[in-house]
Amino acid sequence: MSNPELNPYDEVAYPSLPIAHTHPDRLATVGMHFGMRPAPVERCRVLELGCSSGANLLAMAVGLPESEFVGVDLAGKPIARGKAMVEALGLKNLTLRQADLLEMAPDYGRFDYIIAHGLYTWVPAPVREQILAICKASLQPQGIAYVSYDAFPGSYSRMMVREMMLFHNRDFHDPQRQTQQAITLLKLLANSHTEPETYAKVVQDEFERLSKRSKEALYHDELAEVFQPV
Ligand SMILES: C[S@@+](CC[C@H](N)C(=O)[O-])C[C@H]1O[C@@H](n2cnc3c(N)ncnc32)[C@H](O)[C@@H]1O
Repeated sequence: MSNPELNPYDEVAYPSLPIAHTHPDRLATVGMHFGMRPAPVERCRVLELGCSSGANLLAMAVGLPESEFVGVDLAGKPIARGKAMVEALGLKNLTLRQADLLEMAPDYGRFDYIIAHGLYTWVPAPVREQILAICKASLQPQGIAYVSYDAFPGSYSRMMVREMMLFHNRDFHDPQRQTQQAITLLKLLANSHTEPETYAKVVQDEFERLSKRSKEALYHDELAEVFQPV
């Protein structure tokens, strides 16, 4: 984080988008394949942890007007942007709240679906434990939680490149400079003839993947303070 006083997600806006595979329709289908009896998606309660500006829930709330959606995020600015969209669209079935998951009050009720996308890998251990504790305490008996995470061993290559960028950036504090320098470093390494070839290939692949991503996503996903695959 460039300014320790600022939440990085307030400082640089995260590109929040609908994520199709978190939709309750898909979660219910997967649950049924496991012999569960999930709540009908047309009338269900959905909680999203670390919802950013709520773009994911917003699309669901429009499509499922009889269902109720609640989104929680620590960062104030994305929640304020999301609330403005909810108001502009006149949505009555989506509530967005700014709250730290570690201090989340137990007054949210029970949910049929809980979503935590792009969160578990990027938060410290106590928050990771709290995500699972919230799922345990707040899911209905036939409720389904979706928690995405990065996994080893595949993530070792991502981690290696991340650590190179962080080392290179150790004296840069401005987010724009950090992302610019990170890409410059990767470009240099990707174009140099490093031995062994397998190592060079990892750097080239990561350079290709990251140069297609937005600067904001690069800043939050690759240069974040925490990146902990499991
Ligand atoms: C990488 S973003 C992912 C946003 C969205 N879920 C997505 O996949 O596009 C992680 C989000 O988690 C939020 N977050 C991190 N720690 C949190 C905490 N302790 N309590 C609530 N939200 C938190 C951040 O503010 C940020 O908006």
